[in-house]
Amino acid sequence: MSFTLPELPYSHDALAPYMSRETLEYHHDKHHLAYVNNGNNLLKGTEWEGQSLEEIVKGSFGKNAGLFNNAGQHYNHLHFWNWMKPNGGGAIPGELEKKIVADLGSVEKMKEDFIQAGVTQFGSGWNWLAVKDGKIVVMKTANGESPLVHGATPILGCDVWEHSYYIDYRNRRPDYLKAFVENLVNWDYVAELYSKAV
Ligand SMILES: [Fe+2]
Repeated sequence: MSFTLPELPYSHDALAPYMSRETLEYHHDKHHLAYVNNGNNLLKGTEWEGQSLEEIVKGSFGKNAGLFNNAGQHYNHLHFWNWMKPNGGGAIPGELEKKIVADLGSVEKMKEDFIQAGVTQFGSGWNWLAVKDGKIVVMKTANGESPLVHGATPILGCDVWEHSYYIDYRNRRPDYLKAFVENLVNWDYVAELYSKAV
């Protein structure tokens, strides 16, 4: 397979004021496109040509840094656009909420720990909710890595590369993370990934 840039599932204006049109024009139209184009070039002639995106990400990790970085970021961003929606945040579907409370203590604690993981990710990376050994866990990873290459299945991720928030929040990463959790998360998509992961 080759990588293709998906359309955003909403207009570039739809997430304002929490994520601006300008941010999405750079982040989706330029940064994600670069991962797609670089990934396609680096995939050519490798042993992973013809495999699924998840197989390429897992297979190239630790073996082909250039391909991994771009394929990993393509995978992360494909989900990232769907992890947000206009008027997001709000209620978490019942079954997922129960599991979050059981594994992480409470919804409030989950949000706190998720935000804290993003705040403390040194440099570029992502913070996550993932399913590992049947439990929901909070994780953080550097650069283009994801729970996928650490034995877990991601169900929610927030991009804490500066390109995701610097236009709208400058250096205030905690404010960006709080807005992501309270106003942007598409919990229905998180629940869909959770149901496939267990
Ligand atoms: Fe990004």
